[in-house]
Amino acid sequence: MINPKMTAAITAIGGYVPEDRLTNADLEKIVDTNDEWIRTRTGVEERRILRGAGKATSDMCVPVVEEICKKRGISPEEIDCLIVATVTADMLFPATANIVCDKVGAKNAWGYDLSAACSGFLYGLTTGAMYIESGRYRKVVVIGADKMSAIVDYSDRTTCIIFGDGAGGVLLEPNSEGFGVLDSILRSDGSGRTHLHMKAGGSLKPSSFETVAAKEHFIYQEGQAVFKFAVKGMADVSAELLERNHLTGEDISWLVPHQANKRIIDATASRMGLSSDKVMVNIQRYGNTTSGTIPLCLWDWESQLKKGDNLVLSAFAGGFTWGATLVNSGH
Ligand SMILES: CC(C)(COP(=O)(O)OP(=O)(O)OC[C@H]1O[C@@H](n2cnc3c(N)ncnc32)[C@H](O)[C@@H]1OP(=O)(O)O)[C@@H](O)C(=O)NCCC(=O)NCCS
Repeated sequence: MINPKMTAAITAIGGYVPEDRLTNADLEKIVDTNDEWIRTRTGVEERRILRGAGKATSDMCVPVVEEICKKRGISPEEIDCLIVATVTADMLFPATANIVCDKVGAKNAWGYDLSAACSGFLYGLTTGAMYIESGRYRKVVVIGADKMSAIVDYSDRTTCIIFGDGAGGVLLEPNSEGFGVLDSILRSDGSGRTHLHMKAGGSLKPSSFETVAAKEHFIYQEGQAVFKFAVKGMADVSAELLERNHLTGEDISWLVPHQANKRIIDATASRMGLSSDKVMVNIQRYGNTTSGTIPLCLWDWESQLKKGDNLVLSAFAGGFTWGATLVNSGH
């Protein structure tokens, strides 16, 4: 039954980063780079890496779901639907969501993986919120998780300095007081795929000895081109979201930006008229965890969130995909 007055509130937040750190000093030993270049051009100081045979993206999602259930005092069996936004699924199939549900004992949940790169969490949050708003489901878990170390070429200095591994997620539940996901502007432009993609391993170019030898199973990124689109895309969509909700920077408590590059974050904040103390930035500690960045920010800042805070979540990603979501914090 459709209930237009029902919003989807975030009622619990979970996060996970692996213990192993890869610092800029470590990378200096592997590729021709230096700490100063990485800090000033990207803002990254260290990233977390999921090490160990048999460890995959689902293994980072499991503690996220466990934390969410513990904080909310529910059993995994109460989860109706679980969405995992990721570009580093455990396997091409079955879906990582399927594997996570099995590992945590979410026996009554259905779910799927969502591929929208760094915008994946926003796509998932918007989709999950609609399941709640429709009145059909009451507990939807949305996770953003990526084991980027699985697809990074550690001999390519232009990409290996940026990415790290991590996962974060939220529980969405119905709310009749107006808290939760209020609006989203999501965009996609597939012509941008030439600038950021993985060349092989899909149906276009199945894996072969040749694709492995040519290093085509790693991230391919034209950094400068992506940078230009990202600065404009993230700033434009965030400003548009404010405008269409009749808000200004003063009404916003926190910008929760995708952590791709500190310079892109600064440009977005400045376009929205936000001072740096209203911007969540943890890129220095985790790097770019792709789908994980936005929920990991929410996780890191959870204790500072107040009921009624307006949050703008904003991302730009490979695809291209981008978007911004307005959330009224129910915490
Ligand atoms: C990748 C990125 C950090 C590179 O920064 P940049 O300022 O654009 O750097 P450029 O590619 O212009 O390279 C500048 C110089 O630094 C060099 N360089 C590149 N990587 C380097 C590194 N790790 N260490 C030292 N020098 C490096 C380049 O070779 C180039 O040298 P040259 O001038 O002698 O040719 C930046 O383009 C970026 O963040 N892009 C967007 C990423 C993104 O948002 N992705 C989408 C979401 S995942």
